[in-house]
Amino acid sequence: MQKLTITRPDDWHLHLRDGAALKAVLPHTVRQFARAIIMPNLKPPVRTVADAVAYRDRIIAAIPAGQQFEPLMTLYLTDNTSPEDIVAAKESQFVKAVKYYPAGATTNSDFGVTDIRKCDRVFAAMQQVDLPLLLHGEVTDQAVDVFDREQVFIEQQLIPLKQRFPKLRVVLEHITTSDAVEFVLATDNIAATITPQHLLFSRNILFKGGIRPHFYCLPILKRETHRRALLQAATSGNPKFFLGTDSAPHPRDRKESDCGCAGCFSALHAMELYAEAFESADALDKLEAFASFYGPDFYQLPRNTEQITLTQKTWRIPDEVPFVESGLVPLWAGEEIAWQIS
Ligand code: NCD
Ligand code: ZN
Repeated sequence: MQKLTITRPDDWHLHLRDGAALKAVLPHTVRQFARAIIMPNLKPPVRTVADAVAYRDRIIAAIPAGQQFEPLMTLYLTDNTSPEDIVAAKESQFVKAVKYYPAGATTNSDFGVTDIRKCDRVFAAMQQVDLPLLLHGEVTDQAVDVFDREQVFIEQQLIPLKQRFPKLRVVLEHITTSDAVEFVLATDNIAATITPQHLLFSRNILFKGGIRPHFYCLPILKRETHRRALLQAATSGNPKFFLGTDSAPHPRDRKESDCGCAGCFSALHAMELYAEAFESADALDKLEAFASFYGPDFYQLPRNTEQITLTQKTWRIPDEVPFVESGLVPLWAGEEIAWQIS
C-alpha cells in the first residue's frame, strides 16, 4: 500500500460561510488543513477590520473541540474602501489580504468594485504597506463570452494594473486558462491559486450525460488544453502556483435549480482530489511543495511543522454530506477516488 507523508497543507482560498453553514463545513477543512485564507463574501461582506475580527471569532468558536486551525482573514474591497482601511488592516496583523470582486461577477459580489481604476489610492496604500491583493479575475461585461472572461480581464485590467503598481503583490485566484499561466510566469510579484476542479476536469464534464450543476463554479471550467496547462503549472515545482480549493458550499436545492448557484464543495476531500490530479501527471513528488510550502512562502508565514499522510486506498465520495436546509453535494460525488487522508 503506497503512502505519502507530507507537511500539513493550508488552503489559500476558502469560503466558509457563516452561522449553521459555517458549523457544518468547518470540520472538513480542519481535518485537511492547518490554516486557510477565508474569503470575505458574506452577506453583507467583511469590509472592515472590525467585521474581520467578529467573523474570525465566529470561525474560531466553530472549530471542533481539541483541534487546531488558524483562519487567515481578508477584507472585501468596495468602491468605498479607503487607504486608512488598508493601514488598519495591515496593523491588525491577522488581516492577510484584500479581495477584489468585480461587481456582479459571482456569488455575493453585489458590493464589489464597479471600476478597478476607482481603487488606485487603495492599491497604492496596499503596495506601500505590502498587503497582497487577491483577484477574482473575470470581467463582468455581458458582451464578453463567459469562457473568455478571465483572458479579457488579464488583457484589459490586470496588465494595466501591474503597470501602475508593479510592486503590489497579487494572487490571481482560481486560474482556469493557459493565458493566466503564461501571464503569471511572465510577471513579477504575482502568484496564482489553482482549484482541484480546474486540475481534474474540463468543461465537457458540465454536460456529460446531461447538465451537471455540481461542476458549475466561477470562473467556469474551460477546454481540455487549458486544464492541461494548469496541471503542468501546478506540478512544475514553480512557487508561483499553489493550492487554493475555492471550496464554495451551496445547499443542494440552490445548485439544482432553474438558476443554480456557482461553487463546488471540495473541503471534504480536497487533498485526495489534488493527489488524484498530481498522480495523473506522475508528479506526486511535487504535491507537498504546492500544498504546503509555496503558499506560506508567498504570504511570508512560517511553513507548518506537523505532517499528514495520504494512503492509496479506494473509497467512494459520498452523494451528500449534512449541511443546512438541504444537503451538500461534494465535488465528484458518487465516484471512486484512489487516495485517502488519515
Ligand atoms: C464562490 C462562492 O460561492 O462564494 N463561487 C464560485 O463559483 N467560486 C464565489 C467565487 O469565488 O467566485
Ligand atoms: Zn472563491
